[in-house]
Amino acid sequence: MKNGLVLFFGGFAVVGLSAVAVLLGAHNQFAGLTQYKDPVEETLHPAPLTGMADRGRLVYQDLGCVSCHTQQVRRDGFGGDIARQWGVRQSVARDYIRERTVFLGHSRLGPDLRNVGARAYASDEYFYNLLYAPQTVAPGTNMPAYDFLFEVRPIRPGQPSPHALKLTGRAAPPSGHEVVPTPRAAALVAYLRALNDAYEYPEARPFVPEVKKEGGH
Ligand code: HEC
Repeated sequence: MKNGLVLFFGGFAVVGLSAVAVLLGAHNQFAGLTQYKDPVEETLHPAPLTGMADRGRLVYQDLGCVSCHTQQVRRDGFGGDIARQWGVRQSVARDYIRERTVFLGHSRLGPDLRNVGARAYASDEYFYNLLYAPQTVAPGTNMPAYDFLFEVRPIRPGQPSPHALKLTGRAAPPSGHEVVPTPRAAALVAYLRALNDAYEYPEARPFVPEVKKEGGH
């Protein structure tokens, strides 16, 4: 029985200590990461999110966009993320230090969004239309409509909103009405536009294995 207790607590200690070692190891490796200062331009990367984009991050979290979208670009040789133009380089830990909750995600029903702000067609108008009526920009898509982030309201005489969406066909509002983004929609779009990890940190350079030279002459 004496040995039984030793075995029990011994096993417990081994499992407990390994868990602590894994946590401390990860903490040691990543917790000290700070912004990187470009040696030539002296700019800091990644730039912090603006207040508006940071609020949009919470909307993204609230609405569960992470259930269909990842935010991690895999390096070349580990899938075709770069070939699909989801980013110019792999994602690295430093990319995420400005975000309190990281939405890495694990399911890709939609495209990876880590660099969606860098796409050539990324504009406020494109994102608003996609959120209000996804079919207008991506016909046949599975992306659900987030039309509750918009207000459909009668146009005030002589004062149409400068932010009203330009919609035609089935997505167009009833005549005399306009579709205007709410502050939540505006914050979410500011967040999407801030998703752009083009800066190349030293640790993000592609891994090139060292080639040993033959012979000594
Ligand atoms: C049910 C799954 C699903 C959910 C939930 C979802 N999306 Fe999507 N999303 C998609 C699909 C599928 C596409 C691809 C559209 C297409 O066919 O081009 C897409 C496309 C996009 C794109 C365009 C990407 C590109 O490369 O141009 C953006 C931006 C986007 N989604 C943002 C969001 C946001 C923000 C949310 C949360 C408010 C969200 N999505 C929730 C499925 C989803």
